[in-house]
Amino acid sequence: MVSPDKGIWHDFSSNKGGDIFTFVMEMEGCTFREALEKLAQQAGVELKRYSGDDKKQAEHKARLYEALELATKYYQFCLTKNKSVMQYVFYKRNLNKKTVEKFRVGYAPKSGRALVDFLTKRGFTKGEIEDAGLVNRFGGDLFKGRMTVPLMDISGRVIGFTARIIAPDENSPKYLNTPETLLYNKGRHIFGLSQAKDAIRRSEFVVVVEGNMDVISSHQAGVCEAVATAGTAMTEMHLKSFARMTNDIRLAYDGDEAGVRAAERAISMASKFGIYLSVIDDYHGCKDADELIQKDAALWRKATESYRPALEWLLEKYEGKYNLRTEKGFQEYTNEAKRLIDEIDSEDTVLREKYERIVSERLGISLEAFRAKKVVTPEKKLKKNVAVKGEKAEISRAEKNLAALVKNGPVALDDYEPLGGLDDDELALIFDELYAKMDAAQQKHEAENLLRKVMAEREVAERRALEEQIRIAEESGDDELVGELMAKMNTLIKKKR
Ligand code: UTP
Ligand code: MN
Repeated sequence: MVSPDKGIWHDFSSNKGGDIFTFVMEMEGCTFREALEKLAQQAGVELKRYSGDDKKQAEHKARLYEALELATKYYQFCLTKNKSVMQYVFYKRNLNKKTVEKFRVGYAPKSGRALVDFLTKRGFTKGEIEDAGLVNRFGGDLFKGRMTVPLMDISGRVIGFTARIIAPDENSPKYLNTPETLLYNKGRHIFGLSQAKDAIRRSEFVVVVEGNMDVISSHQAGVCEAVATAGTAMTEMHLKSFARMTNDIRLAYDGDEAGVRAAERAISMASKFGIYLSVIDDYHGCKDADELIQKDAALWRKATESYRPALEWLLEKYEGKYNLRTEKGFQEYTNEAKRLIDEIDSEDTVLREKYERIVSERLGISLEAFRAKKVVTPEKKLKKNVAVKGEKAEISRAEKNLAALVKNGPVALDDYEPLGGLDDDELALIFDELYAKMDAAQQKHEAENLLRKVMAEREVAERRALEEQIRIAEESGDDELVGELMAKMNTLIKKKR
């Protein structure tokens, strides 16, 4: 109930109420500051900033919003002009007109600078286009030849894009996203929230899927409570945003390793916010929500209603993972289970006991024994790190032996370059010890064997280094660099074949 005279509201079902600011905060799920800004804008009041810097920043941000809005319209226009992409969107992905409009699906043309030129003509500076996250390292368009879907904030303002490749290309990542900008924060952003927020409030639950296309399909299938976080990386900020709207969160992640880990993380965060976390895991053999919807939209609708408590689901996954008949598996399972149950709010003794009972019965031990068990923290990680460091510092035996042979004997090898940092005296010693007594033919044979080994080792090392670089690039959100590195990796793998 809203009383315009008094400027207050009250919701009798949730027993919440307040003034105009809390009203906007609740409706939009936003912070006080954001509510203030929104209302000020509606009322035509200019908010005085704390400092000139703030004002400049706000003006700059406003320009970025404008550029992104225009880019969205441009991409939408480009879609209508490209028959084969329309084919992809409407027939291959089966999206209908309403959905395409709702999510503002578009197409980024292939030519290298179409968008940059367009925005420049409309008066945007190079810096503004860059800061909006639309430019690649070479000053051209970041998105080329891709289906685009804008990333929006909760009120529907465009803050970036996710863009899917249309023609498969193994040298380029399937999805390319806007890098983190002044407006887009990956750890905070929730894809589809502006389109889903009304449904979430109405139905009082949210369905979190893995992919952006899963969100779009789900809305088309009538489950408009669907949103996605970037991949499966749910953060505390995401959970907080959900918690402002509902405490019924249903995860619909793939049942693979990544999905399980995501669920684990979410479970330990959820208990802090008083959230009911559950898992939707019956995809009827399909790999994700989108695939299930393509097969039968009604099955997806049913799936979102047949969810299970996340903890129960996770414990079952562990049961499948560890072999309880071996002592090792038994130990590991007990540890994992104990750790999980320890995440439950200690005041919720009833819920705790429910799970303690499930696990101890499963293990065939007493409730008391399970309760008394201490969690053993694994040392695996520590060991692994030490091993990696050691590997790097050491030059392999094969490398040394081969260098000894080539530098001290008559052996000549094309394509081989000894590693730097080898000690000539040490190599001479190795040669004397191992190869001096061999004849030339034997030495050559030995060298050829060693060369094969060395090349294989170097390749593995190169791949490890690349993998590490990719991991770092992924962590820093540099999707373009990830693409480049993956291309390198592909070439490496191909060369091997
Ligand atoms: P998936 O590989 O499961 O893709 O990635 P998908 O959602 O099923 O996509 P379609 O159906 O093939 O079009 C899940 C999510 O991981 C992120 C995207 O957010 C994607 O929605 N992702 C995936 C990337 O950011 N980059 C990639 O190269 C791949
Ligand atoms: Mn998919």
